[in-house]
Amino acid sequence: MALQRAASVLATALVLTSILTGKAGCSPWACGVCYGVHGDRLPKPAEVVQLYKSKGITAIRLYEPDVQTLLALNGSNIGVLIDVADENVPRLASGAAQADLWVQLNIKRYYPGVSFRYIAVGNELAGAATRSILPAIKNLNAALAKAGIKGIKVSTAVKMDVLATSSPPSSAVFKDDYMKQIVALLGTTGAPLLVNVYPYFAYIGDQKNIDLNFALFQPSSRVIKDNGLSYTNLFDAMVDAVYAALRSAKVQVPVVISESGWPSAGGVGASVANARTYNQNLINHVGKGTPSKSQPLETYVFAMFNENRKTGAETEKHFGLFNPDKSPVYPIKF
Ligand SMILES: *[C@@H]1O[C@H](CO)[C@@H](O)[C@H](O)[C@H]1NC(C)=O
Repeated sequence: MALQRAASVLATALVLTSILTGKAGCSPWACGVCYGVHGDRLPKPAEVVQLYKSKGITAIRLYEPDVQTLLALNGSNIGVLIDVADENVPRLASGAAQADLWVQLNIKRYYPGVSFRYIAVGNELAGAATRSILPAIKNLNAALAKAGIKGIKVSTAVKMDVLATSSPPSSAVFKDDYMKQIVALLGTTGAPLLVNVYPYFAYIGDQKNIDLNFALFQPSSRVIKDNGLSYTNLFDAMVDAVYAALRSAKVQVPVVISESGWPSAGGVGASVANARTYNQNLINHVGKGTPSKSQPLETYVFAMFNENRKTGAETEKHFGLFNPDKSPVYPIKF
């Protein structure tokens, strides 16, 4: 009974919020899009930035610094999540001078004309490379302070496998102690943990137990009940697992979704209809937060373009919202 009342109060609050803000889409919080560049005949960076503007996309993720893209973003007001390329992370971990140089070359030169928000020290680093994350974050924080740059938060982008368990969401904990040290550091700087969250991969890995509609934010007979909360979609359950692991590590760290998306072709569950449904529902949903945390979730959709040179599964080439000629793969509204 109490739960039903709480749910109905929450539903009323959400309706009021959407009436007050006038829309159910992305603003005033950021919905970004990841700009991967492993494709042939992609538009020039200046055209890409123009495309972001014309579609009302207010944030971008770059997987490494690129001069032409950063120059095109100058004065644009588009929020930037920029990665330290994976292969450069050990170098930035090795000493203050390397981090100073990286900040001078890739941040300071464009600051404050480019609206940097976050630096991601690597994307889904695995194995021995993860040991460089902590010293690289520390060196970059020191380099930013030395350069007199404020307001850019340094973190790292991880995938769900940093969790030992994620089901039910409230039981989630981090797999290893090193991850706990990383989030403890983030807790002292106010940086968010950047998490790549893909219900798609969870679905293709366990099609017997995961309802496609549940993964697509569509009405589904599947509901996860956990600790007094009801989950009607897989994305919320995955994100709340991350929040639970952070709580269990006893840190106050926000979460930013540094990638999420769905392929439009190339394999099981991949279709234009499913990709459109997932990404549009994601954009419409993230402003509401999750069952355990109603705070809006800053989210970067993966990805801007179909990238024909990506390796791995065929689906990897088909996560784009746009074709290289800038035509939409399917209609989407930010
Ligand atoms: C960014 O734009 C401002 C204003 O037009 C200009 O003064 C500045 O030199 C530009 N920055 C770069 C790196 O070109």
